[in-house]
This record gives sequence, C-alpha cells and structure tokens, in this order.
Amino acid sequence: MTRLVVVGSINMDLVTVARHFPAPGETLLGERFLSVHGGKGGNQAVAAARLGAEVHMVGALGDDAFAQALCDALAAEGIDLEHVARIDHCSSGTAAITVSGGENQIIVVPGANARLTPDHVMNAQQLIARADAVLVQMEIPLETVEATLRVAHDQHVPVILNPAPAQPLPTEWLQLARYITPNQHELATLLCADPSEDFRRLMRRAPCPVVLTRGAEGAWFREEGELQHQEGFTVEAVDSTGAGDTFNAALAVFLHEGLPIAVRKACAAAALSVTRLGARGGMPHPAEVDALLARQHS
Ligand code: RIB
Repeated sequence: MTRLVVVGSINMDLVTVARHFPAPGETLLGERFLSVHGGKGGNQAVAAARLGAEVHMVGALGDDAFAQALCDALAAEGIDLEHVARIDHCSSGTAAITVSGGENQIIVVPGANARLTPDHVMNAQQLIARADAVLVQMEIPLETVEATLRVAHDQHVPVILNPAPAQPLPTEWLQLARYITPNQHELATLLCADPSEDFRRLMRRAPCPVVLTRGAEGAWFREEGELQHQEGFTVEAVDSTGAGDTFNAALAVFLHEGLPIAVRKACAAAALSVTRLGARGGMPHPAEVDALLARQHS
C-alpha cells in the first residue's frame, strides 16, 4: 500500500450553482447552494485514500463549527489526523465557490491554514521519513511549503508540489521537488514568465521535472528526455472543482508504476472527479478508474 503524507489546506467549501458567473456589480439568483468539505490538502488526502493509499494529513483547523465537520469527513475516509492542529480563536479555512457550466470561480479565506507553520512540518518529520511520497500545495504559508520540500528532500522522499494558487518561487525550492504539477498559467507565474509563452518552452525552462495539466486536453510530461502527451478522457463535466487535486493524488498513488502509467491513471481519475458536484463528490475508487481506462481502450 502506498503511504503518503499530505501537507496542506482544509476548507469548508460554500458552493453556489448559478446559470452564469455574476459580472462586477451584478446580483444574481443562484440555482442551488451546498456546503461541502474541501481545501486542496484535504481533497488530495481524500482522493489518495479513495484510490487505496495510506494517508497522513498535516494541516490546521480553527475552533469554529466547521472544524469538527471537516475533521470527521477526513477521518471517515480513513485518513490519519494526528498532525492536524487545532488553532484557538481562529476560523477554519473557507472557500466561496461559484459553479456554472462545469467551470468554477473560487475565493479562499485561509483562516487556520495560514497558521500551519514549519514547526508543524518538523513535528511530522518521522512520518515524512517513512512515506513513499509527500504532496504539498500552496494554500498554506510559503515558509511551510519550503519546510516540507526541505524535510522530504533531506529524507530522500519524493515531493509532488502542486503550485496552486501559484506565486513565483525561488529556483532553489523548485529544485527540491521531484515533480511540479502546474497548469500553463501557474507555470508561467512560478517562473515569472509570460503566460502566453508556448507551454513546451515554459516546461523546458523549469528547473525541475514538470507534469503540466491542460484540463480536458490531458497532461504533458518528459520521459527519457522526450516530451510525452497523455490525452484527456471524455466525460460530461458537472463541476471541475477538485479535478487538479484528484490528478495530484492519483499521480502520487500510482507513481511506483512509472510516470507514464501514473499520468494516465491521474488523467482518468481527474476526469471522473468532474462528473459530480463538489470537490470530493466525483473522486473515484480504483475500480472506476480501471473501468474508464478499459472503456477508452475498447
Ligand atoms: O482545488 C479545489 C479546492 O480549492 C476547493 O475545495 C477549495 O477549498 C479551494 O481550496
């Protein structure tokens, strides 16, 4: 069983489904509202657990009503929460999400996620040393991202850095990652480059291996020096929230099968994840991924 540590955010997602996205100054009547469990870290932990990994979470929750519900939801997926801190006098992370036509717009208020410190990562050092891989994203303080990269690198444990939401990062940090998994816009931001620059050129300029995601078009990566393209899988999209998280989790879970297979399974898992509402609604179990792969073959 793949053993993973996920260092990242845990949010309550407040989701409104609307016919279109409001323009500045416009008030719309929405069609539906739901509150669901999210956060890039929590989502990647859940997706990995559903795909069969043993998952340990390093994160932070506040002392509000959302905290217990978020905690219970992760525990129900079998995720170890020993390193999820409770921060007094602090709200849990929230994300206000609008979904329309399968696309989304998100505003995250980090709350307790902003209080996840390098010390929390240091406290999980032994756990990280025993992991097959570590997943980290950027909804937590940058110094905590750096600590995660350094601790895992020192222990020779591969880190998959999902640079979302993207900010420029020092080259030296990026070199500590086994893979980074940006989309084109995120890669340009990371490298302080022009987002309209050809993504293949951007990939060549990155100081570490890149698995570049392009939504329904699939993913690009380098294998034995050659640029490879894994096509996306055709599905009916309901909500793209959490697709990137599912991709990253699957990549980590299946990495031991080799990068091309891991990327293929990650594309399939991410496609399935968009077929239901809510970040975690469509996150698949292995049998669903296998069924989609088999359908694509026939
Ligand atoms: O990646 C999707 C996630 O981004 C949502 O669950 C939301 O919480 C935001 O963090």
